[in-house]
Amino acid sequence: MEDVTLLGAGKLGSALLRGWQRAGRLPGRAVTKSEASAGMVRECFRIPAGTSLDEALVGTRTVIVAVKPHQWPEVAGALEAWGDGGGTLVSVMAGVDRDALRRRISARVDIVRAMPNVLCSFNEGVTAVADGASAHVRALFAPLGTVFDVPEGSLDAFTALTASAPALVLRLIEGFTDAALTLGLPADSALAVAAQVFRSTGAWLAQSAEHPAVLRKRITTPGGCTIAGLMELERARSAVGFADALLATARRASELGPAKNVLPKS
Ligand SMILES: NC(=O)c1ccc[n+]([C@@H]2O[C@H](COP(=O)([O-])OP(=O)(O)OC[C@H]3O[C@@H](n4cnc5c(N)ncnc54)[C@H](OP(=O)(O)O)[C@@H]3O)[C@@H](O)[C@H]2O)c1
Repeated sequence: MEDVTLLGAGKLGSALLRGWQRAGRLPGRAVTKSEASAGMVRECFRIPAGTSLDEALVGTRTVIVAVKPHQWPEVAGALEAWGDGGGTLVSVMAGVDRDALRRRISARVDIVRAMPNVLCSFNEGVTAVADGASAHVRALFAPLGTVFDVPEGSLDAFTALTASAPALVLRLIEGFTDAALTLGLPADSALAVAAQVFRSTGAWLAQSAEHPAVLRKRITTPGGCTIAGLMELERARSAVGFADALLATARRASELGPAKNVLPKS
């Protein structure tokens, strides 16, 4: 992907680079704020990396913006002069909508919003791409996992489902592991078994055409132990708690744009 420049190589940018590296499809270059991060990119991914966006933009046809939402105005200045001959800007920033991007970017540049997650780092990622995205943009994310076309207006909701949900799932796995430890299972096998059960259950759901409730009922025997656990879950309203957590994430995603000025800067 010689004419692609990745802008930002932090938590998400590095995850994308790892996935592209495994797929043999690294971008042509990366730009970061600090020389330390640029050095990390050169060393780990063996692609040119530096701190000058102006230099990197020469010969670039596609820019993937992976800086924090509040950092967008800072990089937009350098991008304003780019793209008079056409190009594509892909933003993976949460909460920065197309209008905010368009205000700073040449009308000749296609703008696409996408929301990948860190699971892209081992090519099991989930990326929501605003529908209408070109085959070129889909091809950027396809080697990193599964790509879903979603309506542009629902990207904040998909930020919750793709970007943040893995943290909630990890919290759930921690809860399962804590219970297994309480029951006296060894720590390493408790974690390994809990993680594998999540993985296999996801695979079961993905390969069946059924709703989760149908699969759940299939393994719930009347008077058995599973129904005892499910009843406890209902009493604790935990399923509602997880749904509320995702709703809070989506609300927060909609607040993150630079103009809204509510993002912690650290
Ligand atoms: N983390 C996730 O799971 C996730 C998932 C989906 C979407 N996102 C979105 O991805 C974006 C990045 O998130 P993150 O968690 O990766 O943030 P991060 O770890 O803070 O990384 C930000 C990156 O942007 C670089 N940067 C900042 N200002 C710059 C400038 N003026 N010029 C060049 N590079 C600059 C930083 O360079 P230095 O390294 O030198 O500081 C860093 O590499 C956010 O907009 C977020 O909404 C994140």
